[in-house]
Amino acid sequence: MERILPATDENIKKGAKILKEGGLVAFPTETVYGLGANVFLPEAVARIFEVKGRPRFDPLIVHISRHGMVSRLFREIPPLAEMLMEKFWPGPLTLVLPKKEEVPDIVTAGLSTVAVRMPAHPVALKLIDWADVPVAAPSANRFGHLSPTQAEEVALDLGEGVDLILDGGKTEIGVESTIIMIEEGKVFLLRPGGLSIEEIEKWVGKIETPPSSPKVLSPGTLKKHYAPRIPLYLFEGKIEDLLLCDLSGIAIVSPFPIADSREEIKVLSEKGDIREVASNLFSVLRELEEGPFRAIISLTVEEKGLGRAIMDRLKRASSGYARVRKGKLVF
Ligand code: TXA
Ligand code: MG
Repeated sequence: MERILPATDENIKKGAKILKEGGLVAFPTETVYGLGANVFLPEAVARIFEVKGRPRFDPLIVHISRHGMVSRLFREIPPLAEMLMEKFWPGPLTLVLPKKEEVPDIVTAGLSTVAVRMPAHPVALKLIDWADVPVAAPSANRFGHLSPTQAEEVALDLGEGVDLILDGGKTEIGVESTIIMIEEGKVFLLRPGGLSIEEIEKWVGKIETPPSSPKVLSPGTLKKHYAPRIPLYLFEGKIEDLLLCDLSGIAIVSPFPIADSREEIKVLSEKGDIREVASNLFSVLRELEEGPFRAIISLTVEEKGLGRAIMDRLKRASSGYARVRKGKLVF
């Protein structure tokens, strides 16, 4: 069987059958591609960790296709969570709440909570619906690498390990979902993502950053993550100074257009749209790591709205800052 198949109804049905029987299916969501397994089959879920090379202490997000499915996962749903599900599902918001006993420990890395979201993508929704089980799915990349936004990137990263990759084209949002935890009426941000904090705060008031107690820590939010294979440095100085340096072997990533049209400068959004910046971020970094560069320097964006998720990913991908001193680049 060809491993990458176009996401037609017929092929989605094949995928649903594979999931039911304990196989692994990669599928598009509105954020990034996910690598899915039937949440109630611990052996299938264990294969996700093997194929990704992911440490077992890093819990997975469970995907559902209809509101009725949450009752199989969450022990109880506080009114605040109910409201957020109504407002933002399907969409790039993941909620962390106490889990039902039936949710296998391997899914949650032994935590007493489980992370759940309903993706806003017709292929993901059909796949989960037709499999008729919640689907545990991390991003479909090798552990630590950039999340895939295209089916071919999944194949390059995970190769033989996946039973089927459903190709639904490039994902729209391009950065992963926003993860929040609700505890005792308070909302904590565990990972900024595709849904802006400002948008959520309109409904729940101030969102807090979690105290660093193990109880609320998000184990997967490791400092170094989402990294390209060549070093990436952030640059916050004057762009004119940077452009005067010797930049041989270096690619520049600029979120927005700049007045220089050198080939090694990659602009993420020519029309200056932050959503387009997010959507192109990982695919451009993947393209640049293929060469012929030895390093990437990325300009930054303001940390508000979607910019917060973009800067979170860039900082995690980076090996520090690049600066210009006396006309020379220093890292
Ligand atoms: O957009 C997304 O969220 C994508 C698509 C495929 O849905 N998925 C994704 O999954 O980004 P992944 O595995 O790359 O990130 C899951 C992260 C974990 O690393 C961890 O930080 C957090 O979700 N997480 C999962 N379960 C948790 C829990 N019970 N408590 C706290 N954090 C949890
Ligand atoms: Mg991931």
